[in-house]
Amino acid sequence: MAHAEQDLMARLRGPHAPHLLGLGTAGAPDHGASLTAHDAKELYFGLLHAQPDAVMLAQARDFLSRQMAAAAHTDADLPSDMSDLALWMKSNSAAVGRQYRDYLAHRRNGGPRRYFQTKSHALYFLKAVAPTKLVDGAWLYGVVPQWRDARYAELIRIYLEELGDGDPGRNHVLLYKALLASHECRQWEALDASHFVQGAIQLSLAQHTEELVPEVIGFNLGYEQLPLHLLICAYELNELGIDPYYFTLHVTIDNAASGHAARAAQSVLDALPHLGDQEAFYRRVRDGYRLNAMGKGTLEVIAGFDLERELLAMLATKAPVGASLHSDSCRIGGRTVNEWLSTPGQMRDFVNALEKAGWIRRHEPPENSRFWALLTGDKGPMFGVFNAYERQLIHDWIAGDSLSASSLASDPYRNRERSSAAWRKRANACPGPEFGEELRFTDDGPRSSGFAALLPPDDVREETRLLRDTLAKAKNRAAAMDLLVPWLSPVHHHTPAGLLATRLFNQALRA
Ligand SMILES: [Fe+2]
Repeated sequence: MAHAEQDLMARLRGPHAPHLLGLGTAGAPDHGASLTAHDAKELYFGLLHAQPDAVMLAQARDFLSRQMAAAAHTDADLPSDMSDLALWMKSNSAAVGRQYRDYLAHRRNGGPRRYFQTKSHALYFLKAVAPTKLVDGAWLYGVVPQWRDARYAELIRIYLEELGDGDPGRNHVLLYKALLASHECRQWEALDASHFVQGAIQLSLAQHTEELVPEVIGFNLGYEQLPLHLLICAYELNELGIDPYYFTLHVTIDNAASGHAARAAQSVLDALPHLGDQEAFYRRVRDGYRLNAMGKGTLEVIAGFDLERELLAMLATKAPVGASLHSDSCRIGGRTVNEWLSTPGQMRDFVNALEKAGWIRRHEPPENSRFWALLTGDKGPMFGVFNAYERQLIHDWIAGDSLSASSLASDPYRNRERSSAAWRKRANACPGPEFGEELRFTDDGPRSSGFAALLPPDDVREETRLLRDTLAKAKNRAAAMDLLVPWLSPVHHHTPAGLLATRLFNQALRA
């Protein structure tokens, strides 16, 4: 074990020492069972769907320790002197800008897309990164209870912006949910555990912020920098007819001048201990920064797509349902369709047989294939069997070489490109949030008229009723804000009550 790693492990597991800032230490409790990346999925759902119990919290802490130990091997490209952070950030941002300009020039000169060969490739990407995107911002939740402390004001502001300040049209998790839904990218829950590592890290940080403030700040610093892949993803998604708003939104809010990137750098300096060991603090910021490299990165996810493998896996999941629904007169390659579908592991041979029998004409427009006609058109006998994402897989696999993206001029998706403004026009046609709630306080507490206005009297949703009951206990603004905090958690913030709580918290914070 390298010295640096030994040092880190000692700090992660060593005896708890008091911290001058009262931030605790990075020591991990020893509770027996240890979590590895393998268990990330169980931890992810455990932290996301329930109020975690002591065992779950201990598992999350142990998981973080192990991820930090593993991350110690990775490079943290942060400047050695933290006073150079602003310069470092601007230099990174300028380099990304140059690389993106080169990319655009390459595309203008007829170069192919760099990331997504087909639309199904792009949709696969959206699905494969869903576990991370659906907890967007979670790592900052743990600072929200510290709203009285001015050192965390920037971090809390970033978190509230991740939540869209309670506006469902700007809440990042809801935006991503809507994106997945619009393309019927379902079953992301079935992804293997490696896809949940980054999300489990973020949710675990949210639960252990009190003792891991420097690490949370370091993680945030890394996460909020503008990466080149974000720009290219947005460009190519748009080109493939997929609303890039979730990605373009992050391009604008992560800007190095005044956006999350700049504020993330400032938050390091804001939280710097004046009486404690600043170097030790910054080392821990770097440990947290390195956690960004854990789990599957964007480029790794994109490179992991194999159209045929994804197609066959999708067909295999459908097979048990279809195995008894076809007539025995449906025969392909000498076997009934029901026989093909009821024999596990036969999907590759089955699609080969379909191709051989002329039902599928590969590397031609799918409209030339009889099999495609079965699935599409409202009179097709298999209409509705496959959802939009699944149909796209089938479409792109059949089309094969005819979908060559080698030239923009021949790119069949090109005519679907639209400007961000056009996407927004469509999105803006959707019903917006209901605003107008106002939380007003007197010295003695919130006025009852304020509560009457903020929740419709005929609203019988359990969530909003619970929120109303909770707020009724508040004696003053500070007490109300403390009571609202749990509703801003990654579990709740995107629900109706969570959005309302976020708006109220935001309003009270600015009051
Ligand atoms: Fe976000």
